[in-house]
Amino acid sequence: MATAKRIGVLTSGGDAPGMNAAIRAATIVGSARGAEIIGIERGYRGLLEDAIVSLTPGDVAGILREGGTILGSARCPEFHQREVRDRARAVLANRGIDGLIVIGGNGSLTGALRLADPEELGGQRLAISGIPASIDNDLGLTGLSIGVDTATNTIVEACDKIADTATAHDRTFIVEVMGRDCGYLAMASAIAVGANLALFPEAGKPEAEIVEEIVETVLTLRNRPRRNRRVIIIKAEGVSIAIDRLKAQVDARLRDKVPGADPSGIETRVTVLGHVVRGGRPSAFDRLLGSRLGNVAVRALLAGISHRMVAWMPPVELAPEIAVRSPADPYCWLVDLVAVLAETDNLLKGKTSLARWRAGAFSELEDALLL
Ligand code: F6P
Repeated sequence: MATAKRIGVLTSGGDAPGMNAAIRAATIVGSARGAEIIGIERGYRGLLEDAIVSLTPGDVAGILREGGTILGSARCPEFHQREVRDRARAVLANRGIDGLIVIGGNGSLTGALRLADPEELGGQRLAISGIPASIDNDLGLTGLSIGVDTATNTIVEACDKIADTATAHDRTFIVEVMGRDCGYLAMASAIAVGANLALFPEAGKPEAEIVEEIVETVLTLRNRPRRNRRVIIIKAEGVSIAIDRLKAQVDARLRDKVPGADPSGIETRVTVLGHVVRGGRPSAFDRLLGSRLGNVAVRALLAGISHRMVAWMPPVELAPEIAVRSPADPYCWLVDLVAVLAETDNLLKGKTSLARWRAGAFSELEDALLL
């Protein structure tokens, strides 16, 4: 494929800290190598509205440390429709954009692939490069996505604070964290926090078993010496039982099991961290990761490479037909987007070797957390 000359950049789906680093690197590196870089606001929605802004190195000065995305983001379910994608391609053609960097998660990269479907493109030239960005860490064939490190740090900071009050009162806290259908954030932060239990959707446990597991954990820890009785449980939002219902059921079982106990000493407390997990200044690692992936993504388009996602240290062996190591950065791979999306789908269904490893490691960790 020919070298792209006018490269659009968009961020789509849930924002992730470190997206700005990727925008900045793509802008600086692309401009230095003779391309014109153009920002598209609010993801595919902004593309449909022709919401275009200039991106020069001056425009991206100082954005590295900012959370969210300077371009704005949106979800755009209409992009599944061919007619809507045709409108988006017309905007790109009209603006002379022949390369597009899409920074986002599963849905956003699927949109990129459809947008650049050779059949739908007809004769139009459009090269695409994907950058994995989602705090959920649910994309296949990349070791990490932008935003995961910052989100984990945010959860750890919040749980450390909760642990202080939990320890002071010998209390049980259930902390719910984002992650959509993936338990990665819950488990990674449970390890880093020293939580006593992690609840993750991959375990597929029925409600009653989850309740019993929590009750047993609380009762075991209540018999420990003082200062060691607090219970921190991290629940992934993907575990389908609603947190209020979980609390009610656990509290009722605890009252049955410990009749006469002071309710304020035995009842659980819940904290839903929600969108707090997605915000904030990116960690040093996410700034570096975003910068490196942005660098490789724009260089791929400048080298005439298209339909690839830039992966960070993939956790599995990659066949040469689907991936090449980036000549610009040995930690990054350029992986065929179709393969990435197929692997992501299988990862979410628990069918890949990584998914099986994760599920096995998570359940071994479940026992270790209690020790
Ligand atoms: O995919 C990122 C994410 O933050 C998920 O963890 C969460 O389930 C979802 O987005 C929330 O989406 P919204 O911001 O649209 O409510």
